[in-house]
Amino acid sequence: MLRVDIITIFPDYFREPFDYGIIRRARAASLVEIKAHDLRSWTSDKHKVVDDRPFGGGDGMVLKPEPIFAAVEALAEARRREDIGPTKRVVLLSPQGKPLTQSLATEFAQCEQLVLVCGRYEGVDERVADVLVTDEISIGDYVLSGGEPAALVVIDAVIRLIPGALGSETSASTESFSDGLLDYPHYTRPPEFDGKKVPEVLLTGHHADIARWRRQAAEEKTKRNRPDLLKK
Ligand code: ADE
Repeated sequence: MLRVDIITIFPDYFREPFDYGIIRRARAASLVEIKAHDLRSWTSDKHKVVDDRPFGGGDGMVLKPEPIFAAVEALAEARRREDIGPTKRVVLLSPQGKPLTQSLATEFAQCEQLVLVCGRYEGVDERVADVLVTDEISIGDYVLSGGEPAALVVIDAVIRLIPGALGSETSASTESFSDGLLDYPHYTRPPEFDGKKVPEVLLTGHHADIARWRRQAAEEKTKRNRPDLLKK
């Protein structure tokens, strides 16, 4: 069982997205448990302040370290009481992180606890990344207004890799990125649509020819859309 704890100032943001498809099934089968926690519940002042002005000046506000440290410690303690093993990762979602990859998602899927800290505003006090966090992760080279959508992306990518979460055990190992290439193109009926035909070879039933065509089509698609992957 993987326990996912999300630390956010918008816990209600996560009210529905885990109620669909593979994530819903994985939760129902007790492969994963997901909880969103309000960062403000770990403040100690009357106004539940989670942010402050940046040292050195500049625009915007920075998330304070104390509530985030208190939250991660409290969640670790709660999980200790539930007798969760030691394989835990504390992930900060931020545009300054390392890129999320399929192999990192595979590592996360093997953990017993995943704590996701959603950044906000102009940033998060750097001592969180320095001391508390095992992985600072970005989902791409663009800036979101907060880490919440990125946390959803991480959770989706991770849960489908938990053994038993996918209907067919093979489907995660034959798709995009598992072999360094994008997935090959897929077709279904009708064999001709709007004048565009399905490649002939896929209708022949010759498995070796089909496998060869798919490999070549995957390479062409990768060359066209993601030449950076071929260089690796
Ligand atoms: N927060 C803001 N932008 C982000 C990104 N690109 N990835 C992860 N978290 C973020």
